[in-house]
Amino acid sequence: MPDPCYSLRVAKRHFEVVVAVWVVGLSACTAEGMADPAIPGEPFIVFAADFEGFTSWPSVEVEPFTMDGGHRLGPTRVYLGGALPREDEAFEVGTVVVKTVEDGAAEGWEVHAMVKRGGGYNAEGARDWEWFDLEFTPSGALAIAWRGEGDAANPGGYVTTTGERIACNDCHVFAGARDHVFSLPELRALLP
Ligand code: HEC
Repeated sequence: MPDPCYSLRVAKRHFEVVVAVWVVGLSACTAEGMADPAIPGEPFIVFAADFEGFTSWPSVEVEPFTMDGGHRLGPTRVYLGGALPREDEAFEVGTVVVKTVEDGAAEGWEVHAMVKRGGGYNAEGARDWEWFDLEFTPSGALAIAWRGEGDAANPGGYVTTTGERIACNDCHVFAGARDHVFSLPELRALLP
């Protein structure tokens, strides 16, 4: 017997759910605040709503990374929507990792995410991961400012002080042994 919350979320992802069922049924399932689970064997394609409430997901504070042209400096936190892989295993399709630089009001935070999309997406870079640039709107909702594989010509990348363009993949491939998630050791601290 599948978990009813899981089934409802899968139904939502297929847009087959009747509105009444959705309102009554899903309200009991949203407390976790996680993105809807992936459907086995299918790519996991998220929408802005899948990130809603991420600030209540399990999270760790990490050392800001100081490399030129990378993430902004400031109080840095990594949030995990999904399970951690066992040693030497990859993250499951459907995993959402959000990284924030929480300097001041949420509207001004740097909010990045990586989502395990699967299906061989981003095969030349952080395989199976899709990159995101998110932003809080003045109403407190989350919007996707940019998403994709993030190649050098992509506006989601960074520009160094010497004018060189670097994309998300360019750095994150160095964490290939951790399935492209630098903060995996810190995230492991979330385990009991
Ligand atoms: C200059 C290198 C660099 C670039 C470019 C870069 N990152 Fe990162 N990213 C890091 C490092 C290092 C961390 C580990 C956390 C820290 O130290 O800030 C990280 C952490 C993250 C995390 C949290 C998970 C993890 O790997 O720890 C996400 C999500 C993320 N980056 C998304 C992005 C996105 C999206 C882009 C492109 C728009 C991007 N990154 C570009 C270096 C980079």
